[in-house]
Amino acid sequence: MATTKDYRIGEYTFPRGWFMIAESTELDTHKPLAVRFFGKDFALYRGRATGKVVLLDAYCPHMKTHLAAPNKTSYVVIDGGGTNIDGDSIHCPYHDWRFGPDGKCDNIPYHQGEIPAAACVKSWIVKESVGAVWVWHDPEGGEPDYDCPSVPEYDDPAWVRGPYDHLGMLNQHPQEVVDNICDYGHLNPIHGSFVERYENEFKGHNATQRQCGGHRTLVGADGVSAKLHTHTTYHGPGVLISYLTGMFETVLLISHTPVEDGSLKVWHWLLVKSPGKNAVATRTDAITAAQYQESSKLAFAQDFEVWTQKAPCLNGLFLPSDGPFMKARIWYKQFYNPRAKRQEYLDQCEGLYVPRGATPYTEPKAAA
Ligand code: FES
Ligand SMILES: [Fe+2]
Repeated sequence: MATTKDYRIGEYTFPRGWFMIAESTELDTHKPLAVRFFGKDFALYRGRATGKVVLLDAYCPHMKTHLAAPNKTSYVVIDGGGTNIDGDSIHCPYHDWRFGPDGKCDNIPYHQGEIPAAACVKSWIVKESVGAVWVWHDPEGGEPDYDCPSVPEYDDPAWVRGPYDHLGMLNQHPQEVVDNICDYGHLNPIHGSFVERYENEFKGHNATQRQCGGHRTLVGADGVSAKLHTHTTYHGPGVLISYLTGMFETVLLISHTPVEDGSLKVWHWLLVKSPGKNAVATRTDAITAAQYQESSKLAFAQDFEVWTQKAPCLNGLFLPSDGPFMKARIWYKQFYNPRAKRQEYLDQCEGLYVPRGATPYTEPKAAA
């Protein structure tokens, strides 16, 4: 397992950006969730008053009790009806200090007088979008400098929303996963794609891949592949959203969030436009979409299998006929360094790139 320092990516161990930390359905208003990302423990819960999601640093400033670890025995939890969530606040199970969604302690039942200002935990910027909870992680402590990932088709009833596939932990640095956005040379041998046209573009916080061709993995239930056009974009360092037009119109989301320095958690998810072309997706549509999601997961598993076995690529032997790995690695550095340096990296990587010998991408011709 190699670290950010080994890859010489930048000053910060963990990147700035929006990161998925849970599925929305994992949170009810009864059970806080202990989660760990960016080498830190957090308490995640849904407020009972507003339904809003709150993310706090996990450990109570009093005596370092975990605010969200499962607890069945404290009277704080028993008297709370089996939960320590109270309105939009959370009680520490040990001595019952209460913390608001802003992370400030606003009640200590046995203490008269002022509550010290130090009685607080950090409250993080969180949003819910596309059925997931996202945190804005920022080593500089700044406000988000781009929007939380979203997919407009998510609320359209013609689209079938697949469940999140939890792909679990990967003991690799996220650099290995992000390299995939420009890995032209792996598409045929790993995924069985017959790539006809290909290009990458880096711009601001987005890294995009456009390609088209046939595919041996991403096929329908009949085992047949239509020619696939894919527009795949990293929105910041941790989430990739891909628009695919092939067998079906599809939106694919792959999200990865660092857990420790050199490991990450990965989710995969698909949104499929009604295969039967219905305005409201039917049960039959849902069955076809589920089969297609399984194919898509298998395509991703082809990458995953290699990632679980490979050594860290600290110095690759890259060829001009490979995709623009070095440009992608410079693009990725913007998230591991102070904002003040961002332009410096963008000046070195922004632009459109076609591997030597490949044909640049063009949009599909509109049907007559
Ligand atoms: S440790 Fe949290 S209230 Fe004492
Ligand atoms: Fe891949």
